[in-house]
Formats: sequence, structure tokens, C-alpha cells
Amino acid sequence: MKALVTGGSGFIGSNLVKLLLEEGHDVRVLDNLSSGHIENIASYIANNDIEFVAGDVRDADMVARATENIDVVYHMAASVGRQRSIDNPALDSTINLVGTVNVLEGMRKNNVGKIVYSSSAAIFGELKEPSIDENHVQNADSPYGVSKLAAEKMILSYSGIHNITGICLRYFNIYGNNQRYDAYGNVIPIFAKRIYDNEKLTIYGDGEQTRDFVNVSDVARANYISSIKCNETDVFNLGSGSSITINKLAEMLQEIAGIKVGVDYKPERVGDVKHCKADASKIERKIGFKVEKELEEGLVEYMRWYHDICVK
Ligand SMILES: NC(=O)c1ccc[n+]([C@@H]2O[C@H](COP(=O)([O-])OP(=O)(O)OC[C@H]3O[C@@H](n4cnc5c(N)ncnc54)[C@H](O)[C@@H]3O)[C@@H](O)[C@H]2O)c1
Repeated sequence: MKALVTGGSGFIGSNLVKLLLEEGHDVRVLDNLSSGHIENIASYIANNDIEFVAGDVRDADMVARATENIDVVYHMAASVGRQRSIDNPALDSTINLVGTVNVLEGMRKNNVGKIVYSSSAAIFGELKEPSIDENHVQNADSPYGVSKLAAEKMILSYSGIHNITGICLRYFNIYGNNQRYDAYGNVIPIFAKRIYDNEKLTIYGDGEQTRDFVNVSDVARANYISSIKCNETDVFNLGSGSSITINKLAEMLQEIAGIKVGVDYKPERVGDVKHCKADASKIERKIGFKVEKELEEGLVEYMRWYHDICVK
């Protein structure tokens, strides 16, 4: 199989590229390196294991060329994150929605039959149930949530009109190797950086808010398995089905690093959800995928990676 991974030098994309190569597939990466890191895939490029196309999903001609002779597209290129989208709403929509249309048009022109799309739990907006299944109301409350939802809907519409199978995986909180610190980023790299910088962790609210964390190795596997096993257009929530408090996470990360920095509590932020946990049963029932990596094991692995690669 020949796969195109858009955003393949990014955190999740580079982990998928690794898995696809291990499984013996041909891989082309399209990435403009705006938030991705060439180091994530440099050894594959140097060894000619992959084809790397430096390009932007906003460039329709470039995307059309990148989708030539491809069997499946894993579409991960995006402007990522709620706050980034609030600061740059037009950029967010152009990359996330128009970029997705360009990918779908490239697929249509080149007869590519399957797309696995990296969607997000951000499409739901405020979470109203303790455990979120695929039918939870979709009230995206940020430009990012709206653009990810609109891209999902665009994929579903193309699938109805053209011969394209669209599989949308709505990720909850993903962490793991190749996830670097980013001011707009997720809590685990932010905590890792502060711990190794010997600075107190900042927690907004009382720290009893909960999150559902999934290791990136499981996300790469979910992308791969769904592309092989799923032959019908569908949407799936991708979480572990369990959650932990931010207080507990802060405690675990300090313990793993063997560095005690303490916590500074600040007022709760507007728009932060209190509890977040996926109902992960549909993807298990329909595709046979289940999260395997235990959080503790994944955090130990991540802190080791962060220490070796990111601490100067
Ligand atoms: N990390 C998470 O917790 C999470 C949660 C939900 C959904 N997602 C989705 O997963 C996907 C991957 O996210 P990530 O966490 O790996 O982020 P990332 O920023 O590491 O990866 C995004 C990649 O896309 C590339 N890119 C950005 N704009 C581009 C453009 N215009 N043209 C070409 N390439 C472009 C970046 O250079 C980067 O390599 C995204 O679609 C994101 O919305 C991530």
C-alpha cells in the first residue's frame, strides 16, 4: 500500500509514519513544517525510506500532485488548538477546512478511495455527559472546533457524492514521544518542561478536573487498523475510556522524573471543561481497536524521551 500522510513530520503524524514503515508500506509525507519537526522523520528521509514533499495543504495544485498514485490518505495537517484558533481564526479555517477540501479534490482527481481524518473531541464544545459517545451534541465553541467539525462534514459529504470512504477519528487528549513543548500545547509537555526547568506547575482551578489521555502509539495503531479494516464511511471517538485528575497527573509526572516542584493554583479559565472522558466502545465494537498502553507506562516512556531529546 502507498500512503500519503499530511502533517507527517508532526507529533502524531511522525508516529504513524514509523508504524507504516514497520508494517512494510510505502509512505509519502506532505508537510510545510509550520509546527512539525524535520528531526521526527529525518532518518527516514536520509535513508530514502519515505518521500518527503515540502508543501502546504492550502496549495491545491501541490496537494493534487501529492495525491497521485496513493491508496490511502491519513490527513493530519492542521492548525492545532483552541487558543491558537482564537488568536488566528482565518488561518485556522483556511488550513483546516480549505486544506481538507484540497485533499479531497486531489483524491477525487487521482481516484484515491480512502481517507482517515484526524478529528478532535473539540467538535463537541461543552461536554454535557460524563462519558462522551459519538452521538453527543456537537456544539463546537472555538474556531478550531468549528473547522475540525466542518472538515469532518466535508469528508462525509464527499463520501456521499464520490467514491471515497471517509473515516473520522475524534481524538481526546493525546500524549507521547515526539510531542514537544508548545505554548499553545497540551498539559503533559507543558508539565514536563516545567518539571525539568525546576519551576512550579500551574493548575487552573482546583485540579480535580479530569481528562482522558491516550498514548500516541495507540493513535497511530487506530489510524492504521481503521484504514485496513473499515470499508464504510464512519466517525469514531478515540479515547481510553478512563480519565484522571490533573492533580494526579501532576503528582505522577513529578514522581516519575524524581523532581518535586510543587503546584501553583490559579483561577479556573473560562471555557475549560470540567470532566472529559470518551466512550470508546464503538471503535472496539466495529473495528476491534482498543487502547493498550497503560497511562503510567506511557508517562514513564514519555518523560524519558522528553529528558533525552528536549532537555538541554
Ligand atoms: N495532539 C492532540 O491531542 C490532538 C487532539 C485532537 C486532534 N488532533 C489532531 O491531530 C492532528 C495532528 O496533530 P498533532 O498534535 O500531531 O499536531 P502537530 O502540530 O505536531 O502536527 C500538525 C502537522 O501539520 C503540519 N501542517 C500544519 N499546517 C500545514 C499546512 N498548511 N500544510 C501542510 N502541513 C501543515 C505541521 O507542520 C505539523 O507537522 C491534527 O489534525 C490535530 O487537529 C490532535
